[in-house]
Amino acid sequence: MADITDTKTLWKGAVADALFRHAESMELSFQRPDPASLIAERPPKPEMGDLAFPMFPFAKLFRTSPMAIASAVADHAKQTAAALGASGEVEASGPYVNVRYNLASMMPGLLKQVFSEAEAYGKTDLYAGEKIMIEFSCPNTNKPLHLGHLRNDALGESVSRILKANGADVRKVNLINDRGIHICKSMLAYSVFGKGKSPESEGCKGDHFVGDYYVKYNSWAKEEPEAEERARELLRKWEAGDPETVELWKTMNRWTIDGIGETYRKTGISFDDIYYESKTYSAGRDEVLKGLRNGVFYKEEDGSVWVDLAEINLDKKVLLRSDGTTLYLTQDIGTAIARHGDWPFKRLIYVVASEQQYHFKVLFHVLKKLGFDWAENLYHLSYGMVNLPEGKMKSREGTVVDADDLIAELSSMAAAEIKTKGREGDVGDVEKTAEAVGLAALNYYLLQISPAKDMIFDPKESISFNGNTGPYLQYMGARISSMLRKFEERSDEFKGATVDPSLITTIEERELIKLISLFPEKVAQAGAEFNPSIVTTYLYDLSRTFSRYYHDNQILNNDDKNLAFTRLSLAKGVLQVLKNAYWLVGIPFLEVM
Ligand code: ARG
Repeated sequence: MADITDTKTLWKGAVADALFRHAESMELSFQRPDPASLIAERPPKPEMGDLAFPMFPFAKLFRTSPMAIASAVADHAKQTAAALGASGEVEASGPYVNVRYNLASMMPGLLKQVFSEAEAYGKTDLYAGEKIMIEFSCPNTNKPLHLGHLRNDALGESVSRILKANGADVRKVNLINDRGIHICKSMLAYSVFGKGKSPESEGCKGDHFVGDYYVKYNSWAKEEPEAEERARELLRKWEAGDPETVELWKTMNRWTIDGIGETYRKTGISFDDIYYESKTYSAGRDEVLKGLRNGVFYKEEDGSVWVDLAEINLDKKVLLRSDGTTLYLTQDIGTAIARHGDWPFKRLIYVVASEQQYHFKVLFHVLKKLGFDWAENLYHLSYGMVNLPEGKMKSREGTVVDADDLIAELSSMAAAEIKTKGREGDVGDVEKTAEAVGLAALNYYLLQISPAKDMIFDPKESISFNGNTGPYLQYMGARISSMLRKFEERSDEFKGATVDPSLITTIEERELIKLISLFPEKVAQAGAEFNPSIVTTYLYDLSRTFSRYYHDNQILNNDDKNLAFTRLSLAKGVLQVLKNAYWLVGIPFLEVM
């Protein structure tokens, strides 16, 4: 039995042949159109079938109305389809040739495939064997993660999983900004106000502990005119390798990095490799000097080195200051080259906020000018800002939303919902379940919108058990799981029952079969576009369709055991696809909720 993608291809061929035959019968000279170039739309309503070929583009050629063409082409297509082995029905509907697949007959083969491939169902070979490096998160060690990082992390982790599902060999990397004046400010404030204190002594998470000193520095510096100069002095000492300064720097960075690591564990984020700016910040200098010798860059009178960006309609940009120090751009040039040396990727994706579009445009251009062929495959996965609704909780600093606070708030809202629904007894560990629900809410809400768009994160809306939310989708999986448990308990009743396609009669069943069969295509599309919202939209469609089906039809309680078994098998297929899609967008699967 051909699958849904093959079936679509076969039907395109059949309609192309039918157009040709129709032209022949009218004695028109007409080349058989390339089937791939035929437009095949999705009919506005599922009742109208699965494909709609508009006939408008051929009106000029045939010199008749699209309606007349549709009717003639539909007639011819009955034969051409049979000749090509395209199964289903075809009919004219106004100016369209509509095709209805024989979805019921595809079902047994499809379900067999889903059950045997299980977690692997949906995988494609779009990027088979390709080495793709993806950089995301990139925190600074002077403060904890904020809401913007949560969007970054959700995107980075989800895109990594999607790329893996498309066959890529993925390497997730982080770049920790652990040096510079901002770190020295926290260090200075700690030396002045915090001697002897530690996260342990204060019972405080390390990143919050350090972040508090950064905040302290900023208010202190308003009254203390020497603060800024003292921070600079600390940076100079750090750069000179002063043992005491380096020791304090190490201690405070350890506190922050451990704290951030805890947040990563809570959100299910992980990395294959971590780069530290303290190790890479002078990288790039030699590459820039090489480029200078090769005439890619030029030197100003004061000794600074520049790149002229006229080719990409931009101004000039400095790469090495007159004192020989590097800049953000220089560091990224060096880091990219070093990474390619560490692990020769085919592509490198940077998940970084849209504010840095200019930076990446310049970076990619410079790397190309330096002659690296892999520079053609660098990609800035740029994402928009994320804010809370007006008047909602902000962090201590008052400007950004703290990640840990938000995660805790979501968990406690989920726990409250579980209690309101009286589900404590059923879910077992309330706290654990609430954390998983909170994470579903967070990831789904952050990923359901296209990365490029700015967004408002509404915690209350995200945690709702109804509507287009993570918890709603998670609940669908739990509902089906509970149904399967009941089935297992009663399995004796269903001995010998089989999946019978002739019992597939409802429009929702057809839609579910179609959706299940389309999952690999959606995974490929999300991979090609680096866009998890393709998966979230799909998940919502699948869940909503199943919910309607489940609402209107009995699944297990049918006298006809084959009917019950057929419907249950379809539900089991939906569950497998839900689980696979959950994984791609960071929704934890819950057996019970
Ligand atoms: N840490 C930087 C920031 O906070 C982001 C680094 C992005 N990655 C890069 N390779 N430039 O803005």
